[in-house]
Amino acid sequence: MKFLENKWAFVTGSSRGIGQQIALGLARRKCNIIVHGRVESNAAETIQRLKEFDIQTHVVAGELDSPQNVEALIRAVKAGPGSVDILYNNAAIQNTWKPIWEIGQDEWLQSFQINLFAMIALCNAFAPAMKQRGYGRIINLTSGIKDIPQLAPYSVSKAAVDKYSRDLAAELHGTNVLVNYLDPGWLRTDLGGSNAENEVETVLPGALVPALLEDFGPSGRFYAAQDYKMLEF
Ligand SMILES: NC(=O)c1ccc[n+]([C@@H]2O[C@H](COP(=O)([O-])OP(=O)(O)OC[C@H]3O[C@@H](n4cnc5c(N)ncnc54)[C@H](OP(=O)(O)O)[C@@H]3O)[C@@H](O)[C@H]2O)c1
Repeated sequence: MKFLENKWAFVTGSSRGIGQQIALGLARRKCNIIVHGRVESNAAETIQRLKEFDIQTHVVAGELDSPQNVEALIRAVKAGPGSVDILYNNAAIQNTWKPIWEIGQDEWLQSFQINLFAMIALCNAFAPAMKQRGYGRIINLTSGIKDIPQLAPYSVSKAAVDKYSRDLAAELHGTNVLVNYLDPGWLRTDLGGSNAENEVETVLPGALVPALLEDFGPSGRFYAAQDYKMLEF
């Protein structure tokens, strides 16, 4: 079994839902975790659950809703444990359901800021140092959402995440900084809702696959967490 000892993972939106599961899964592989929520108190449950693992943890808090807030968050991470070896860009929002014609530019901008522009800023902040160290794993959360026009800001921002991930992978080709994007499946979380097909726990072990890739492994690829449900964990 492969372990991630002495590595640090920054999992955005790890205060609950899928991000919390990813943090727990990585911790099980001995990875140290930087836990993130919008405010510090939101991270308390994840920190408590991580106590069963023999790892280090660090909490950062902050909104991703503006370039200034993202910069402040980046500063907080850099002032913390230092290096980020695994950047798991998980935090995102889904816009309020409404007819596509009624979705205002502010709502489009908010979805793109939190779901895409913040991700880009975080990659810009941490990928160069990964490249210098010759190791990095970046995983960006995407979605398999089908044609639901009422949620277009959400799904269009996720489509952009896919293309951005492939472009960044091309930029980092040959550096051992691997960039991939993951669809967790439709899961019962605050975002996924109570009608979702799967329990949130089913994101594991699939979500670990792109984090555990061998050196110079696949990059710019799409992973579906539900494809790995049968894997031993
Ligand atoms: N659930 C699904 O069915 C599904 C399907 C496909 C893709 N995904 C993707 O999986 C990822 C996680 O989804 P989820 O279902 O776990 O969502 P969730 O339960 O709503 O959790 C969202 C997480 O993101 C953080 N967050 C929300 N708004 C933020 C903001 N403005 N600034 C900073 N952090 C913010 C939250 O922090 P706080 O706790 O502090 O609010 C929380 O940790 C997302 O990228 C989502 O698009 C989910």
